[in-house]
Amino acid sequence: MTAPAALRESALPLPLLRRGKVREVYELGPSELLLVASDRVSAFDIVMQEAVPLKGAVLTQVSAFWFRRLASVAPSHFITADAGEIVARHPALAPHREVLRGRATLVRRTTPVAFECVVRGYLSGSAWQEYARSGTLAGEALPPGLVESDRLDPPLFSPATKAESGHDVNVTFEQMAEALGRPLAEELRRLSFAIYTAGRDHAAQHGIIIADTKFEFGHAADGTLLLIDEVMTPDSSRFWPADRFAPGRSQPSFDKQPLRDYLADLRRAGRWNGEAPPPPLPDEVVRATSTRYLEAYHLLTGAALEVAP
Ligand SMILES: Nc1ncnc2c1ncn2[C@@H]1O[C@H](COP(=O)(O)OP(=O)(O)OP(=O)(O)O)[C@@H](O)[C@H]1O
Ligand SMILES: [Mg+2]
Repeated sequence: MTAPAALRESALPLPLLRRGKVREVYELGPSELLLVASDRVSAFDIVMQEAVPLKGAVLTQVSAFWFRRLASVAPSHFITADAGEIVARHPALAPHREVLRGRATLVRRTTPVAFECVVRGYLSGSAWQEYARSGTLAGEALPPGLVESDRLDPPLFSPATKAESGHDVNVTFEQMAEALGRPLAEELRRLSFAIYTAGRDHAAQHGIIIADTKFEFGHAADGTLLLIDEVMTPDSSRFWPADRFAPGRSQPSFDKQPLRDYLADLRRAGRWNGEAPPPPLPDEVVRATSTRYLEAYHLLTGAALEVAP
């Protein structure tokens, strides 16, 4: 079987609001945005040259799955991820239907809240690093004696400021409440816990640990608070294979482990310094990564992935 073509970058004839590491954000009239997930992949914060077939479709359709499933838990920006429906609403996009298929999401435009709402159900990443150093998270004490990847019950709400470049900075709930006002901060925390808990429980029944995840929220023009951006995807979360979970060490990544292993080997061998430009990736690493993304999608949703023919 030949692998489906991968898309490194979309170029639609619309005003481009932003090009992220993975997605392009286009303006679509005054009140809508079009989010297009490319097949770009990053590791160690560096975007690879190669694109990973199916990845953009997986990201888009995992988010769409959660937006639909959790609609009663949190109202969201989601309008549709169906290319036919997008084109029906915006006929000028008809010539680009195949680029949109499976990877584009039409959403309500909002004014984003300037904090990332991170929920941590397991101690990993920057939270583990700070804890290992000082027993704290964003300066606040956590219980003593935790080891790397320990399950946190109840989960922690761990907001972060959005840094334009470099790493986001973890802050306390109090710092967030001071900046946003307590009622909004409390509502963001309540929604974040509700979404994460529902997602974690669903994923756990299907062999995936969602160790932590980042939500974004925004205010629509009428003032409604909406869940925006992407939701509980492998890119906005840590997905771990449940059958290999063992606290006391870092966990393999469900999706990016083939890529990480390859790059880590190169670094150990002194053949890559960890900085841009990234090394070229062998086909089998790209293929293995693609397979992992697709597997995560199937496990989580139980549905067939919609891809361009
Ligand atoms: N409904 C919405 N209204 C306004 N902004 C939105 C909406 N949904 C998502 N966004 C914004 O779209 C942007 C997506 O860009 P972002 O840089 O996160 O792309 P990315 O490919 O995920 O890159 P990275 O991997 O660096 O996060 C974010 O800044 C997010 O706040
Ligand atoms: Mg992002």
